[in-house]
Amino acid sequence: MELSICIIGCGGQAFQSHLPSLARCLREDGGLRFAGCSDLDEERARRFRAELGQGRSYGDWRRMLREERPDCVLLVTPFTVTAAIAEELLRLGVPTLLEKPLGENAAQARALLQAARDSGTIHQVAFNRRHMPLIRALLDRLQGRPIRHIDYRMHRVDRREDHFHTTAVHGLDLCLYLAGGACLEMHSLYQPLPDQGIGVQNVQALCRYGSGATASLSFCPCAGLVCEQLAVCVDGGSLFVDLPIWGARGNPGLLAEYSGGERVFQADGLALGDGPAMFESNGFYHQLRSFLQDVDAGRMPADTLETGLGAMELSDCLREGRALYRPDAAL
Ligand SMILES: NC(=O)c1ccc[n+]([C@@H]2O[C@H](COP(=O)([O-])OP(=O)(O)OC[C@H]3O[C@@H](n4cnc5c(N)ncnc54)[C@H](O)[C@@H]3O)[C@@H](O)[C@H]2O)c1
Repeated sequence: MELSICIIGCGGQAFQSHLPSLARCLREDGGLRFAGCSDLDEERARRFRAELGQGRSYGDWRRMLREERPDCVLLVTPFTVTAAIAEELLRLGVPTLLEKPLGENAAQARALLQAARDSGTIHQVAFNRRHMPLIRALLDRLQGRPIRHIDYRMHRVDRREDHFHTTAVHGLDLCLYLAGGACLEMHSLYQPLPDQGIGVQNVQALCRYGSGATASLSFCPCAGLVCEQLAVCVDGGSLFVDLPIWGARGNPGLLAEYSGGERVFQADGLALGDGPAMFESNGFYHQLRSFLQDVDAGRMPADTLETGLGAMELSDCLREGRALYRPDAAL
């Protein structure tokens, strides 16, 4: 690959996930060049550049684009500003990998999709679970067998922020991605947790998809551990996935399949993975590498804005505390 890369936003996610992914891609492919990083807090950008050992740092991303003219950009800013910057990048024709969520709400995501369609600019949404080695292995095991039902569970510890839907969107997207087809309806129950803070709540959602699959999703932001687990039912088969989210539990994750009451397959995330580090087991490295390969080939990635819009519509529902989602009611 012959590409120069810039990043906008050098905060927590840029350092913990994108920096090591970039470092590995740069090591593996001598044709890649890190051109620059920008952050409103220039000190963070300087630190990012120093840790990567390449490129120049900026306080103004527009200046960075003018001076570096990168082949692509990684956009890792807070969700409150992502849509405005992403729309400008898309309309400028700069291939962009944009962090989730795709703006503050589905309306912003739809405007982004319009900008992508108008410009035809190469872009990829960063729903990293789609790239997790264990999710890729799950899809391989399924070999096209239709999913009948998914049980998905997301637990977190002390997550009292009023925008937990921007994390829940990962689970909504993952179930949509696995189930296939649009979500035709979602019924949600909200359980406020006043002792944990205003607006903090558990959510249980039941979804039906265009493929005929159903899913039940459980979101518990103030539980006892960081975990995400899936139980996937196909005809005559049960597949279980324990995702190694953030490496928080120190295990590499697990995929197991049962049939007729017997275990027919089991492998841990290390055996199936891209490597042991969090940025590898959580799909960030694979996500970046596939984006760069697509940009290099001049090809639109599979993870377009169009594929991410469904999860944004559902996350709007959780944000607004709506009990029922139906696609026509969302417009
Ligand atoms: N995929 C995941 O699992 C995952 C995990 C964490 C965060 N994220 C996403 O990554 C994004 C960033 O999250 P974070 O935790 O790094 O936030 P953060 O607040 O730690 O970092 C964001 C950085 O962007 C900078 N910034 C803000 N406006 C800017 C602008 N106009 N130009 C340049 N820099 C600007 C801020 O100064 C800050 O340094 C969010 O959209 C978040 O949802 C994704």
